[in-house]
Amino acid sequence: MGKKFNVSRTAVWKHVNELRRIGYEIDSSPRIGYSFVKSPDLVIPAEIALGLNTSIMGRRILYREEVTSTQDEAGDAARKGAEEGVVVISERQTRGRGRKGRLWASPPREGVYFSTILRPNLRPTQIIQIPLIAGVAVCKAIRRVTPLEPRIKWPNDITIGGKKVGGILAEMSSDMDRVNHIVLGIGVNVNTECSLLPEPTRGIATSLAEKCGEYVSRVRLVQCLLAEFDALYRTFLVSGFDMLREEWKALDSTVGSWVKVIDGNEEMKGKALDIDGEGFLLVRKENGDVKRIISGDVSLIGRDN
Ligand code: BTN
Repeated sequence: MGKKFNVSRTAVWKHVNELRRIGYEIDSSPRIGYSFVKSPDLVIPAEIALGLNTSIMGRRILYREEVTSTQDEAGDAARKGAEEGVVVISERQTRGRGRKGRLWASPPREGVYFSTILRPNLRPTQIIQIPLIAGVAVCKAIRRVTPLEPRIKWPNDITIGGKKVGGILAEMSSDMDRVNHIVLGIGVNVNTECSLLPEPTRGIATSLAEKCGEYVSRVRLVQCLLAEFDALYRTFLVSGFDMLREEWKALDSTVGSWVKVIDGNEEMKGKALDIDGEGFLLVRKENGDVKRIISGDVSLIGRDN
């Protein structure tokens, strides 16, 4: 190795020790040398960038061992002018957040927690379409990395067997008619021990490892996720949401279900009929009126047989 990289034995030894310190298992034996045993599956840029084939997402990856929320760090970077596609990823969030001010439990090295900066030329009302396509990317990436078949609950909860395995949060800065930037956060419970999560998350969450019964590589999931999102986002920029609406619907579990929608103090029940061309949910209420749902919490309460 020393010869190959043109460095001294001591330099090799120092690097090997550094890798061991951060969790890489490396054996050594006299005269034979070092042998690589196991990677700690840290979501470090060097690992993610290996074999990452994207043109926008992850062009630059900022890695943090711990953050309050990757949304905070990516938001700061965006305000300072960071370019589209920058990703902030962390092993742990101390104040991970979800939609509607909820907590996103982010135990160290168990899940995937990252935020990416987007600068699409959109009107603020079109912003809902971005997390919708991110939901498609998350489902497709999970399907590539595991045998599982996650589904999307409108707008962008990623579920398996009715329990939540991933979520998406879009925060934007905009003028009256144009978006300046979006910070799109994605969280997936990968090898998360859900029984140890705080309530109320514990009861409603699951993880990929729990569902497929084996360890799932976080690095591989992030690589697939960035690749899937990169492809969908580029299609979206060129052709708009209409092209992706059918893909979203093929993964969705909401349309066709009876739903309960809570939006602030308002609660209603009805049947989810479709999503419209802009991504909003159309629900037929019990009195026959069709309501266009723009935001809110949707729970699935049954299907017609
Ligand atoms: C939700 O379903 O309510 C959205 C959850 C979004 C969680 C991710 S984890 C990475 C990023 N940082 C955060 O604080 N939240 C998002």
